[in-house]
Amino acid sequence: MAFIPRQSRRLAVLLAFFPIMLLYVIYTFKLHDFVPSIAYMPTQVSIMEPLSSVVRHKFWPWTAKLDEQHTQQPTPPRSTFTRHIVAVGDLHGDFANARRVLQFSGVTDSFGNWSGNVDFFVQTGDIIDRGDDTIKLYVWMDRLRAQAQKVGGTVLSLMGNHEWMNAIGDWRFVYPSELKTFGSIATRQRILSSGRIGRTWAHNYTTASRLPLHPSIGRPNAPYPASGLQIQVEKDEFNELQVHLNSGNYPLSHAALSFVHGGLAPSYPELTPFPSRINDIASSLLSKVQHRKQPLPHPPHAYPGLPADATPEEHRLYDANGPLWYRGWAMEDDAVVCAQVDEVLKKTGTRRMIMGHTPDFKNIVSRCNGKIIIIDTGISHAYGGVLSALSIHYKLEPIGDEDTGESQQWKETEVVSALYADRQEILATEERVISGNILHELPITLGEENEVDFD
Ligand SMILES: *[C@@H]1O[C@H](CO)[C@@H](O)[C@H](O)[C@H]1NC(C)=O
Ligand SMILES: *[C@@H]1O[C@H](CO)[C@@H](O)[C@H](O)[C@H]1NC(C)=O
Repeated sequence: MAFIPRQSRRLAVLLAFFPIMLLYVIYTFKLHDFVPSIAYMPTQVSIMEPLSSVVRHKFWPWTAKLDEQHTQQPTPPRSTFTRHIVAVGDLHGDFANARRVLQFSGVTDSFGNWSGNVDFFVQTGDIIDRGDDTIKLYVWMDRLRAQAQKVGGTVLSLMGNHEWMNAIGDWRFVYPSELKTFGSIATRQRILSSGRIGRTWAHNYTTASRLPLHPSIGRPNAPYPASGLQIQVEKDEFNELQVHLNSGNYPLSHAALSFVHGGLAPSYPELTPFPSRINDIASSLLSKVQHRKQPLPHPPHAYPGLPADATPEEHRLYDANGPLWYRGWAMEDDAVVCAQVDEVLKKTGTRRMIMGHTPDFKNIVSRCNGKIIIIDTGISHAYGGVLSALSIHYKLEPIGDEDTGESQQWKETEVVSALYADRQEILATEERVISGNILHELPITLGEENEVDFD
């Protein structure tokens, strides 16, 4: 080596180290992120990470200790998750009674503003007809929706058969005094089609809803089964990630509720994917109804019916077996409905189905141990029924001893109650023990369409 001049030796060493140093600089400052073909090549990252840490640890020994601490961080303690849902049925043009119900159920404060005490408020349709407060009620619902959004709450609004009737031009149940609040027939037609109420129906209302009880099942109204690849992530006792694909074997896959106005008939062909199939058909039909030349209202004019270009699916949506008008879950005998209900729950990925439309003026009706719940109690003074709301408290709490490796156990509790102005009644309580280190987070969903974003 003596014959190589010192200058050149230093240069050779520098040259030899140059590529390594360059790579080190690139990965330290994440410059590779600017070059997509490198950024997405995991092999390079997995080569560079150990290499760069070797270099780092050699030159700055204290970084070795830091890295060690970093990888040995204890797993965060498991926390309890809760979700509180309130659902209210047919309101039929009665603002005063609606205000009372939302206040005693904790959805709003005494000023009619969002209280922040519930996570979800669901209204199952039929706000319009049989009363004068149509405009007030829809404006209030939009205000609550905005107030809820600001504090992480959600308002889910459904179209009932009466919303649809008015959109179609079937005005049989419109009070003359209600018509006066709009000014004229033409103004009412405009407001319900291209105007304020028509736009909020098209934008903020759906005909069916699926509401997960836990975030790991997905967002409200995301289709079941997932249309894209849905990955639920859990960590096992060794802190390794476990993934479940498309809900099938995930312990909470059916921890959800369905809401429609009338009912989900077992023979209705558009049940899945739920609720997106129904909502896609409904969006298409609503657009046709709202964009046609508004027909003269019935009565006194002839019933206009669905637009001439309505598809067979769109006709099925609005017929007696469809989700807006079906009454089977309310009218048939226990033996019949309880034999049919599980199949519909299985298809829709839910544990209970909740609906309005068929009133019982004394009580919220719970059937088949709370698998079917009918919440129309004739709240409007047009009926003089009882004021009511449905409340569901969901809780997922960690149980089992973390130190002995029993860190997979959870107690899941659902308490379903009927709330009335002067009393409360528990309709169903269910407790289960679930295994799996569930994260209170949304699943990772790849390529999912039709998702309504409520954030
Ligand atoms: C209720 O909301 C309205 C507007 O949304 C606001 O002006 C009013 O101050 C609120 N009242 C209370 C008590 O928060
Ligand atoms: C939908 O609801 C929001 C409140 O979150 C409201 O501001 C908006 O105007 C509504 N959309 C339409 C089209 O009416």
